[in-house]
Amino acid sequence: MTEQLWTSIDQYITDLLVPADPALDAALKASDAAGLPKIAVAPNQGKLLHLLARIQGAKKILEIGTLGAYSAIWLGRALPPDGRLITLESDPKHAEVARANIARAGLGDLVDLRLGRALDVLPQLVAEGAGPFDLIFIDADKQNIPAYFTFALQLSRRGGLIIVDNVVRNGTVIDADSPDPNVQGVRRFNTMIAAEPRVSATEIQTVGSKGHDGFALVLVTADA
Ligand SMILES: C[S@@+](CC[C@H](N)C(=O)[O-])C[C@H]1O[C@@H](n2cnc3c(N)ncnc32)[C@H](O)[C@@H]1O
Repeated sequence: MTEQLWTSIDQYITDLLVPADPALDAALKASDAAGLPKIAVAPNQGKLLHLLARIQGAKKILEIGTLGAYSAIWLGRALPPDGRLITLESDPKHAEVARANIARAGLGDLVDLRLGRALDVLPQLVAEGAGPFDLIFIDADKQNIPAYFTFALQLSRRGGLIIVDNVVRNGTVIDADSPDPNVQGVRRFNTMIAAEPRVSATEIQTVGSKGHDGFALVLVTADA
């Protein structure tokens, strides 16, 4: 009953504030048709990412975890014409669907999808001087969040924003003895940001069509 209510409220909010968008709708449809898991951010969360990127005046965005490019399209739409979004995906099938969705959204020139394991691609981004990024969205496998965050810090500017999704995990995050490597990944990340003097961070738990979860908002306050 509760989850049904959260979903209805998400629908109410989305109907009011997130108008239907042919490219975003088509991206979800194509992702479903290709059998991709239904784990993209919800529409109102996608719009939150979009608004945060605009508030940030982001010109360079990095995303870790593309799936079918639903969040990438939201973020890409926040960029100015000379902006750039690099998005990382390890699954070739997801990448193929994402590329088509990005092209359909007219973002082919702004979005650079890199196929490969993020832990292989991130050192390449450092080596090629791809940063600093104004906003980094971490939304891939959760056990590697601590490593992704270390790279994100290295690739951010002072004033950069790092957003990490799925940090509450149905409340399981408070179980210190959880055998789930995803929970332990989030917990190690939380310990890292708590002790990291170069950032100021908070986390917000959320309920909605994606259940009970949450996201971390990390402001980089000093040079890496
Ligand atoms: C939660 S989904 C991303 C959802 C997407 N950000 C959205 O909201 O539309 C996570 C994605 O990360 C990808 N992924 C998992 N492990 C990865 C890795 N080691 N490197 C790069 N991508 C990875 C998965 O294949 C999946 O497509």
